[in-house]
Amino acid sequence: MRERIRSVIRAVPDYPKPGIVFRDITPLLADGDAFAEAINSFVERYRNAGLTKIVGIEARGFIFGTALAYALGIGFVPLRKPGKLPAKTLQQRYSLEYGEDALEIHTDALGAHDHVLIIDDLLATGGTVLAAVDLVKQTGASLQECAFVISLDQLPGVDRLQQAAIPYYTLCRF
Ligand code: PRP
Ligand code: ADE
Repeated sequence: MRERIRSVIRAVPDYPKPGIVFRDITPLLADGDAFAEAINSFVERYRNAGLTKIVGIEARGFIFGTALAYALGIGFVPLRKPGKLPAKTLQQRYSLEYGEDALEIHTDALGAHDHVLIIDDLLATGGTVLAAVDLVKQTGASLQECAFVISLDQLPGVDRLQQAAIPYYTLCRF
């Protein structure tokens, strides 16, 4: 557990809806040492994993995913909300802790030669990352694991990943 990282994540009660405790990463991003510790933790774990691409989930997964891809010297593939990617896409719908959404990937973004890490800031119900895993599998790429800065262990995401036998790694738990 990364206590320094955990300590700079802010809890915002009742956002975006009553009853939700929003885990806000903006103080972590604003703290250069804590942000570097987060990226360096991922670099240590994945530097010898044979990754060819980092796959980041819009929007907050882009922040950690692009920094990690740069540090590892490999490319970055964005999974975007519907209608944002300009070329031909695959789409996967999913439900969230507070709503519904979908993710898309360019059909030519990954192939069978790719070995990828999926990264996002936070695991809650797991709907988002399971949609991301489905999209990556449809491209033929292989998956190292899914990485998060935060996992919310009272919510079903951790169990859903375990049940689906999808390995994951998280820097801190709430
Ligand atoms: C948040 C978060 C994860 C997702 C986790 O993103 O950044 O992507 O929810 O929730 P889940 O495990 O229940 O699927 P959000 O959809 O709020 O989008 P944003 O990053 O664009 O704000
Ligand atoms: N995404 C889904 N649930 C969340 C939460 N509780 N805090 C921040 N982002 C989230």
